[in-house]
Amino acid sequence: MTTNTPRQNAHFNDEDSNTSANPAFDSVLSARLSRRSLLGGASAAALGGTALTGCATSGPVAPVSGLGFKPVAKTMADQVTVPEGYTARVIYALGDPLTGSTPAFKNDGTDADFGNRAGDYHDGIEWFGLDASGKPSDSFNSRGLLAMNHEATTDEKLSSFFIHANGGTSVLPRPAAEIDKELMIHGLSVVEVQTDGKAWANKPASAFNRRVTTMTPVTVHGPARGSEHLVTKYSPDGTQARGTLNNCGTGRTPWGTFISGEENWFGYFFRDAKDDDARKKDKQVQALNRYGRKAGAASRHGWESGGAADTYARWNNSAVGASAKDDFRNEMNTFGYIVELDPYDKNSTLRKRTALGRMGHENATFARAVAGQPVVAYMGDDARGEYIYKFVSSAKWDPADANPANRLAAGDKYLDKGTLFAARFKGDGTGEWLELSMDNPVIANSSYFEFKSEADVAVFTRLAADAVGATKMDRPEWGGVNPKNGEVYITLTNNSARTVATVDSANPRVYADMKAGKEQKGNVHGHIVRMSQKNPADASFQWDIYLFASEADADKSKVNLSSLTDDNDLSSPDGLVFSKATGLCWIQTDDGAYTDKTNCMLLAALPGQRGDGGARTLMHGDKQVTTHVGKAQTPATLKRFLVGPKGAEITGITETPDGRAIFVNIQHAGENTKMSDVNDPSKYESRWPANAGYGAGQRPRSATIVITKNDGGVIGT
Ligand code: FEO
Ligand code: CA
Ligand code: CA
Repeated sequence: MTTNTPRQNAHFNDEDSNTSANPAFDSVLSARLSRRSLLGGASAAALGGTALTGCATSGPVAPVSGLGFKPVAKTMADQVTVPEGYTARVIYALGDPLTGSTPAFKNDGTDADFGNRAGDYHDGIEWFGLDASGKPSDSFNSRGLLAMNHEATTDEKLSSFFIHANGGTSVLPRPAAEIDKELMIHGLSVVEVQTDGKAWANKPASAFNRRVTTMTPVTVHGPARGSEHLVTKYSPDGTQARGTLNNCGTGRTPWGTFISGEENWFGYFFRDAKDDDARKKDKQVQALNRYGRKAGAASRHGWESGGAADTYARWNNSAVGASAKDDFRNEMNTFGYIVELDPYDKNSTLRKRTALGRMGHENATFARAVAGQPVVAYMGDDARGEYIYKFVSSAKWDPADANPANRLAAGDKYLDKGTLFAARFKGDGTGEWLELSMDNPVIANSSYFEFKSEADVAVFTRLAADAVGATKMDRPEWGGVNPKNGEVYITLTNNSARTVATVDSANPRVYADMKAGKEQKGNVHGHIVRMSQKNPADASFQWDIYLFASEADADKSKVNLSSLTDDNDLSSPDGLVFSKATGLCWIQTDDGAYTDKTNCMLLAALPGQRGDGGARTLMHGDKQVTTHVGKAQTPATLKRFLVGPKGAEITGITETPDGRAIFVNIQHAGENTKMSDVNDPSKYESRWPANAGYGAGQRPRSATIVITKNDGGVIGT
């Protein structure tokens, strides 16, 4: 979500709690770490595997020779703009009914029953096909399920104002009825969609439709299951939890389930000003600070103020009871995970996969699964100065699990046991994966934080990555794996806190950019890092910067290092998804820096490969930083495909197996509207999608669109 609006009292997507000094002791650790990394959990495969150069090469990707569309110009129009010859239609927006008996959405703030309606802030999205008889299918193209995240809600001064009739209550305590509504608009949804060959639509009465909210029971899996740190009044044995929250990026596992990353969950919790004392110097105080919740922190929506019932009390993360079994001091430790859902079974229970660590998860992207090799997933922790992670499963991939009888049991097999690593980037274009486990003496013997078990590493992952000296990045967002060659792309959206003192080879830019007459500083526009490995489980990698985002007219020696033009310039790459049908790389923006000139956008790329550019030295005064830049872009390799409505971020993207329909999420159009204008449509920043003819009322709504080519062709080609 974009949170660049000054009216908000906190920047919920822009956290900055990494005060670790790891770059300073980087060199001290390197000798010890390189040995440990080589002996880590991944090394068995790395050392024992056969020559694996081809292992990450994809299966059936139709080669795409060019970007066969005319680029869309930058625009601030309040609409979705797509290239000539394409059509975009809204098919699923906030409040749309998910049962046959739920009333149509009035969109005036009086609607109720959000447990049976689409949630707010559509984010990551994945396609799960159905055949004509309603069975899972990887090849059927006209019927399927869309599983997606509902990350957050349009908020100002505590309230989620567009979903309440008069904008809601902006003082504490807040009315329970308003909170009840807000608790239900967060989470996930699964919705069936189909086309009759002419137009796509959602099916409100589908038996597959499902909502998951902040209140849905979930089970804890992996090393943190049963940990003392997850004990709550709700789950005295630390094995159960409720709900999922602030779900951002998504992924699809090799065994056909949906996964979702819990991103900015910490902002939803209140902590009492005296809570550090109440916890009697428990090590959790250090962890709470590291995860962005200092004593006295106010919560985003004041949900803890709704009354004494657990529904509200659980958002007070203070130690107020006799023990952890009597309060919700550990409730925050039940969030921050990768969550797995079986989209085909609405009665199945969600699983929090704690082996993949606890952080501000964006998404998880899987390397192509290879028989007899571990399953590998790459992940970003989206906050300023956080890290890039990799998970390597203990179990080796069995191709029979591509279509398992029990999909979540396959998830147990591959995601509950394995090893987590954090990335360190070196100036020579190589990097290391640093093991985060008790087998690493740097962690087991750490004086920085007391790690007593693998559960501690799973719950306090950021501290483990601090301890080993991972590289602080410019806000790691989505990752994607190029199906052609297995290379991993991770967007680094921007970093206002990057300074000349902290630039490094992998985060090399600090510059000023003007926005509507105001100067912005740091790495204003972000970049995309690219990593290659012979084998995804290897302990080392090579990297370059695939793309430096920039405005076209910026200095080509310092800022516009990828030679962007008006056809492909962008700011703040966030979503990044490779098409399995075409191999195209789709890049989406969540931009608060270039929005004086254009709304957020979706671009299509034909990426090359790591090392296709060269070394480049940047001067910051008398400080010199050498980085590694991919080949310069041209409109033949990178082109703008879509520009969204006003105030919106372009979030998830997925496709039918034949690549002839893509589904794109448009999040928070109109989010810069003032709460006091909630009933004056003439003052809304955006009236999309109502102004595109979708649904009742005038209030802007997050929504899923489907894009097809008018001649029925494959998208982008
Ligand atoms: Fe929810 Fe990192 O964007
Ligand atoms: Ca600018
Ligand atoms: Ca995002």
